Amino acid sequence: MNIAIIGAGNIAGNMARTLRGMKARGQNVELYAVASRELAKAQAFAEAEGFQKAYGSYEEMLKDDGIDLVYVATPHSHHAEHMKLCLEHGRAILCEKAFTGNARQAEEVLALAKEKGIFVAEAIWTRYMPWRQMVLELLDSGIIGEPKVLTGNLAYSMENKERVYKPELAGGALLDLGVYTLNFASMIFGDDVERMESTVQMMSSGVDLTENISLYYRDGRSAHVVSSAAARMDRRGLVSGTEGYLTVNNVNNPTVIEVFDSNDQLLKHVEVPEQITGFEYQVEACMKALAEGKLECYEMPHSEILYIMRQMDALRAQWGMVYPFD
Ligand SMILES: NC(=O)c1ccc[n+]([C@@H]2O[C@H](COP(=O)([O-])OP(=O)(O)OC[C@H]3O[C@@H](n4cnc5c(N)ncnc54)[C@H](OP(=O)(O)O)[C@@H]3O)[C@@H](O)[C@H]2O)c1
Repeated sequence: MNIAIIGAGNIAGNMARTLRGMKARGQNVELYAVASRELAKAQAFAEAEGFQKAYGSYEEMLKDDGIDLVYVATPHSHHAEHMKLCLEHGRAILCEKAFTGNARQAEEVLALAKEKGIFVAEAIWTRYMPWRQMVLELLDSGIIGEPKVLTGNLAYSMENKERVYKPELAGGALLDLGVYTLNFASMIFGDDVERMESTVQMMSSGVDLTENISLYYRDGRSAHVVSSAAARMDRRGLVSGTEGYLTVNNVNNPTVIEVFDSNDQLLKHVEVPEQITGFEYQVEACMKALAEGKLECYEMPHSEILYIMRQMDALRAQWGMVYPFD
């Protein structure tokens, strides 16, 4: 499968490393092309990361019929525009999270993809990784009794990053980090949320710095998550049940799962299989879905992409936070 990347930035490098690792272990992936707004940058990236072709314009690259899948690795504010460009050129897409800047943009992209019959997936990597099934099986086994409450946090010191502080780049902690904690809650407790409460600390630029979000489910369970671009936290996720609790070491990349009883005695310590970077699972999911002629990945179906985008829109509405493109 020939993979092309739009945007030769930070995360594009991580994807390149992943693809090299997949290729090295014999998987059918080719580091085919990269496009940057600047040809010299694309050429330097292609050379450093091992891509066959470099383009100085996104559109020019998308005309290349050799491409099987485009990884969109630009800021969230530009995902909709860049995905539409891919769709206009008939290219299948794996787009970085947050899927778009708002739900309206997500609806437009998915409607266009449906109309054209083209595959689109969101690169929210935690959805595709083995930990998810492992945690759900442990919870189903009844090892912590009845799961009742979930907590999680994801926070890094990144408020000085342009992509994070600028409203026009869809900045803020929510779309960068909160998207993972909301997905963590959604994967474990589902989406039957009756009410959502939140408090926020804003940056002077008008985007969210730190937020505390509580989701109250119709069946009486609740999830309480924190995201912040101010300072690093421990990134742990915890599911608490009537007879114990389960933790994951990092809601952004859960690699260690531990189960404790109600007396804090460790019952189980489980580690996920060794990873290249963890990005390989989303690439594999796209390869499988494409081979089966599907238009979405079952791990993150379009309905779930829209659910999370609408949830983030609703939170921003609670905070009176508006992006220029809303
Ligand atoms: N999955 C993860 O773990 C993870 C981690 C970090 C980020 N991400 C996601 O990946 C995406 C990109 O993040 P990043 O950290 O890689 O960002 P970044 O380093 O700032 O790179 C973004 C790239 O987008 C391109 N771009 C196009 N239009 C732009 C504009 N108007 N302003 C700035 N850049 C523009 C640029 O590439 P050219 O100059 O080459 O055109 C730039 O290098 C975001 O959606 C982010 O949420 C995911």
